[in-house]
Amino acid sequence: MVDTEVMAYALRAMTEEDIPQVKVIDRDAFPTMWPPPAFKRELKNNNLAYYLVAWDTDRGHEEWTMETGIAAETSDGASEAPRSRMAGVVRRFLRRPEDEAFEPTEELLVGYLGIWTVLEEGHVVSVGVRNSHRGLGIGELLFIGSIEQSLLLSCTRMTLEVRVSNEVAQNLYKKYDFRITGRRKGYYTDDGEDAFIMSVEGIDTPPYRELLTELRSKHSERWGVSVRQYD
Ligand SMILES: CC(C)(COP(=O)(O)OP(=O)(O)OC[C@H]1O[C@@H](n2cnc3c(N)ncnc32)[C@H](O)[C@@H]1OP(=O)(O)O)[C@@H](O)C(=O)NCCC(=O)NCCS
Repeated sequence: MVDTEVMAYALRAMTEEDIPQVKVIDRDAFPTMWPPPAFKRELKNNNLAYYLVAWDTDRGHEEWTMETGIAAETSDGASEAPRSRMAGVVRRFLRRPEDEAFEPTEELLVGYLGIWTVLEEGHVVSVGVRNSHRGLGIGELLFIGSIEQSLLLSCTRMTLEVRVSNEVAQNLYKKYDFRITGRRKGYYTDDGEDAFIMSVEGIDTPPYRELLTELRSKHSERWGVSVRQYD
């Protein structure tokens, strides 16, 4: 059990102001996948999409940057490769409306997760945690959030795709009773790796709600009680 009974990280719905940091987290989590998802379009125009962020309730982004010396645009201190002039030209050419300037959040965001809900199915499209914050229960917190949000939206089942080599993520999903139900050949566009389809049925049933309650309590005992806001 951690010192404090309240987890230092909380969940809330993603807003446009979160996008710059979410892009950093996305690059950490999926370094070979470029460009990042069109988060602004997802938030504004996709009625099926719902995005969550995990944020540090103790320290703001600037304070963390000063304390750790980690540059604002990276999360693990790794220096970015110098960008070529051509890369700049390409980036400007591909610039999307979501790149317009607005006031970014001052909170320190440490992870994000996206789901699309179609009829009774919640589909986890993406989940990532900053390199610097892995192994602290944040990925699991986000995943609990995706299940709770799917239940709030009356879903009865959940699915996702995961790289066949990504055992860390598969372990997390298996913990929440997701099972491998299929395989998509060459699913990932960067290197042609296959994806496992993982699914869980009956998330609204008493046995699954019992499992969820048990896993949430264990998470709270280990990491502290988390604040989770879904509006
Ligand atoms: C997958 C990811 C989100 C997990 O986040 P995290 O905050 O580090 O994970 P947590 O600390 O909450 O751990 C939750 C569970 O994940 C699994 N897990 C986490 N780290 C692990 C590791 N190093 N080895 C094996 N399993 C691990 C375990 O099942 C763990 O539960 P446990 O502690 O009871 O064993 C994170 O590693 C990440 O962002 N990876 C890169 C992006 C990615 O692969 N996303 C998934 C795409 S489908």
